[in-house]
Amino acid sequence: MTTFASAQSDAGTATFDLGSARALSCRECGHQIPLAAEFACAECFGPLEVAYDYPTITRSEIEAGPKSIWRYRALLPVPSDVTRIANTDPGYTRLVKADRLGAALGLRHLWVKDDTGNPTHSFKDRVVAVALAAARVLGFSVLACPSTGNLANAVAAAAARAGWRSVVLIPSSLEQAKILTTAVYDGDLLAVEGNYDDVNRLATELAADHEDWAFVNVNVRPYYAEGSKTLGYEVAEQLGWRLPEQIVIPVASGAQLTKVDKGFREFGELGLVEPTPYRVFGAQANGCSPVSAAFKAGVDVVTPVRPDTIVRSLAIGAPADGPYVLDAVRRTGGAVEDVTDEEVVAGIRLLARTEGIFAETAGGVTVATAKKLVENGKLDPDADTVLLITGDGLKTLDAVQDRIGPKATVPPSAKAVREALGL
Ligand SMILES: Cc1ncc(COP(=O)(O)O)c(C=O)c1O
Ligand SMILES: [Zn+2]
Repeated sequence: MTTFASAQSDAGTATFDLGSARALSCRECGHQIPLAAEFACAECFGPLEVAYDYPTITRSEIEAGPKSIWRYRALLPVPSDVTRIANTDPGYTRLVKADRLGAALGLRHLWVKDDTGNPTHSFKDRVVAVALAAARVLGFSVLACPSTGNLANAVAAAAARAGWRSVVLIPSSLEQAKILTTAVYDGDLLAVEGNYDDVNRLATELAADHEDWAFVNVNVRPYYAEGSKTLGYEVAEQLGWRLPEQIVIPVASGAQLTKVDKGFREFGELGLVEPTPYRVFGAQANGCSPVSAAFKAGVDVVTPVRPDTIVRSLAIGAPADGPYVLDAVRRTGGAVEDVTDEEVVAGIRLLARTEGIFAETAGGVTVATAKKLVENGKLDPDADTVLLITGDGLKTLDAVQDRIGPKATVPPSAKAVREALGL
């Protein structure tokens, strides 16, 4: 395991003020380069990630910070005065004790991290805020992305508020709500005839030609991905400065899962929590489950698939961080599981019915996967468990609209109401 606090630099002095971020380090061969808008290692093409000169930081310093991801700014690749220049304050969403959902699932100590409460109603506001702050320092002025939907919302909104141009590429088959809730910010939104993996390839090609475009999840991906650590930090802080014993996380590219794990490890190494053992579980939709398939087959290679699921937000057939998800899950003793579209809808409805939280399809995947993991004995019913609910159900109404509605349509009479209710 990497000892974060003692990582050594051979990359020279950082030229950009990105706080305690010191260099970009290859996840495969460890080669380091100075901070820049790079994402692949020149030596081995492995993915680059941010390395830090970790500061000494205390719980009370964090607690005194803003009620947003910026309370953790010392552990993010953003300038020290980020709270002055940042124009969005995502994060610090609620961690809900979920006793009624827990009873339904057979988990005695369950919490839901409700990230629907972010400015554009998904966890993507976290990663985009960090990407925008870093992109500003790196000299960009256009914010771009390929997206499965939630990222499109977050990029278009953050760019609008910053007065930046945005270029957002989405698969044309995306849910109508996600298209409208991106288009409303009036950036350059293009619907591409293809699936997400086609859109992602296109973005990589464009990023090479348009050096002034910060594609948040392509050329500034190392910075962007760090934003997901804040989900791990918040869970630990909101549990009373301790790590959960089990956590279930939806997987598309896999960045979020690997960064929540990194956040937990950093908090342990920095002495902010006891480094107690925890197990990380990945959740996928059956119609796009390449990481789950690799986990179950016991292999390290994630074979790409062609997605076919109602869970469009997680429909990445060739997940960039798939192998690192497998590493994190195997290292911690967790698992990756997948569920059918029927189970996803049932998961959305169960969470709504028991906790009053309406999640998008990715949340349905998390809840349904937790159910399956309890049933197959992989989740311990007595352990402290957290489910990450990462997006809002109002964006994926299509998934439920044919199945739910009023009990009856009645005339405005008390008698008719009583009759309809069987009273
Ligand atoms: C709501 C939601 N949850 C989870 C994810 C998974 O994120 P990652 O690509 O980091 O695995 C996504 C990705 O788009 C998403 O939209
Ligand atoms: Zn390398």
